[in-house]
Amino acid sequence: MNFDLLVWRQTAGGLPGKMVKYRAENISPDSSFLEMLDGVNEQLLSRGEEPIAFDSDCREGICGSCGLVINGRAHGPDLGTATCQLHMRRFKDGDEISVEPWRARAFPVIKDLVVDRSALDRIIAAGGYISVNTGSAPEANSVPVPRDAAEAAMDAAACIACGACVAACKNASAHLFVGAKVSHLSQLPQGSLERRQRALAMVRQADAEGFGSCSNEGECEAVCPKQISIRTIARLIREYTFAQLTGTE
Ligand code: SF4
Ligand code: FES
Repeated sequence: MNFDLLVWRQTAGGLPGKMVKYRAENISPDSSFLEMLDGVNEQLLSRGEEPIAFDSDCREGICGSCGLVINGRAHGPDLGTATCQLHMRRFKDGDEISVEPWRARAFPVIKDLVVDRSALDRIIAAGGYISVNTGSAPEANSVPVPRDAAEAAMDAAACIACGACVAACKNASAHLFVGAKVSHLSQLPQGSLERRQRALAMVRQADAEGFGSCSNEGECEAVCPKQISIRTIARLIREYTFAQLTGTE
């Protein structure tokens, strides 16, 4: 398969960037999107040109580092699929494909398609943990957790902190990410005690990082590779509002 790529090139953060056209030729339909970019980079290197900088690590949908905006959609056209799991057979031979980095003030571009997502780490550091002393690991059945709560917590825990929810949101809100972390921890007995302080601290940090607020567009859920539900945002808002009303700190 052959493709025309329009790729965002930017030498460094703060410098102007532009879309540059490249030809991707003889691409196997079974190549992943990142393998296709690897091939383009090999061609660029063989011509003595600067390769396209992009982020990846696990390449199996679990680390969250590979986010790209492909044809205007975070992580590309497939539902519940991270960029590294997207395959070229999803496109038509001869397609023109645009490739851009996440666009959000809180995710400054480092180079080309690589953005700095450390703002998400700082939100976690502000409250995305359990600080109560839970002692050593208890016998599994001595801490009863209702099945529904365990399932919902596990679903929320699937968030890989990729930031696609931010990239897709017109407000560049991180509410789905924060909602996922809050929903993961607050529904388990060990994490429930601090749920309101946690919501308050994480939302305050998200505001400080420059993420916007949520206006219920639902774009975040639509692009999330782990299909985190916007119900997690409802839980976040409940915990945050209760914390504010009761003066929780
Ligand atoms: S909620 Fe989904 S889109 Fe947002 S960071 Fe987590 S996995 Fe990525
Ligand atoms: S490279 Fe790890 S999720 Fe894509």
